[in-house]
Amino acid sequence: MNRPTYLYDLDALTTHAAAIRAALPSRVELLYAMKANPAPELLRTLAPHVDGFEAASAGELRHLARTLPRVHPAVLGGPGKTDAELNAGLAAGVHRFHVESPHELRRLSALATAADTVANVLLRVNLPVDLEGAALIMGGAATPFGMDPEQARDCARLDLPGIRIHGVHAHLASGLTAPAAAMVARRIVDWAVSQLGASEVNVGGGMAVDYTNPANIFDWARYGSDLQAPLAEHPELVLRIEPGRAVTAYCGWYVTEVIDVKFSRGEWFAVVAGGTHHLRTPAAKGHSQPFLIFPRTDWGHPYPRPRTGHGPVTIVGQLCTPKDILARPVETDPISAGDVIAFAMAGAYAWNISHRDFLMHDPPTFEVGTLGELTSGKIQPGTQAPVGIT
Ligand SMILES: Cc1ncc(COP(=O)(O)O)c(C=O)c1O
Repeated sequence: MNRPTYLYDLDALTTHAAAIRAALPSRVELLYAMKANPAPELLRTLAPHVDGFEAASAGELRHLARTLPRVHPAVLGGPGKTDAELNAGLAAGVHRFHVESPHELRRLSALATAADTVANVLLRVNLPVDLEGAALIMGGAATPFGMDPEQARDCARLDLPGIRIHGVHAHLASGLTAPAAAMVARRIVDWAVSQLGASEVNVGGGMAVDYTNPANIFDWARYGSDLQAPLAEHPELVLRIEPGRAVTAYCGWYVTEVIDVKFSRGEWFAVVAGGTHHLRTPAAKGHSQPFLIFPRTDWGHPYPRPRTGHGPVTIVGQLCTPKDILARPVETDPISAGDVIAFAMAGAYAWNISHRDFLMHDPPTFEVGTLGELTSGKIQPGTQAPVGIT
């Protein structure tokens, strides 16, 4: 394999999505945040298990309509929607607009009125919550996301033509454990119902994914059970969530080959084909992407095969930048040139957030199947019908 491959295990995704759905109370509506990975195969696989999709641009809306032409409820979010995007949402009949500012609400009102239609709205609110330890906090401090509570209250009092406000949307952090996510959900629900009389609340995504330990998955059963209390207190409330990463991270693998092994000033480096221009996740999050090594047994070259010795190894890609690091110095089994390395948890915020044109290497191939099928040679990369977003 001299060209890296993205492998999507759709059976694993089906099992995972079904387990998430089963762990949630039936009253909780589950949307998938497409921004995590909009690959068509993933959207089609998820469709039977979710109540709809969260799109954050007109492009995502178009892609959803192309991929799943039968109606699949979409909500439209995003902190800076152009008039064209709002109009695209109106034309597509999006289920809910997540409105991020008073100005956006007024523009949407004018556009909906001109189109002789009604826009169904949730106001995105930036509520203060105590979120110590969360990976990426987007609420409670100054942010461009959503409105401060008093602005949302003012918006809710406006009687704008073409606008029907149903409640509140909030996405306040990512990297939340189940108890923390449930606590945040409760805080949002309490505020939305008491302050705005909301009949609907979307508490966002942000469920934690632990890249240091793939087995430590978000406790959906605990989350589902913790949501029972706010649901019981508000029997008429529609409660919605829109996770992305915790849904699709696990079904994706980025599989590549070791080109070279080097020892520089006391440190080992393994250089693989591809790099962070294909898998930006470790650069974006500053972590080591977890990986498995598949040693190659048929070396067959007349020259010696370089191999790491004692001590940690840094796994890097082919880019001419010291930032092209897939795994920081990690203790690992020896790695030799020609070995195959499969990076796990590459199903979310991976290929689709990567700076793929930097250095103009070939893109990876995209395959559907299991890691066993790929590493045993049952799947020959590049021979299946093309899949994925290219
Ligand atoms: C508004 C909104 N909803 C949902 C998500 C999905 O978050 P995650 O993938 O962490 O679950 C994001 C991610 O940034 C977001 O901004």
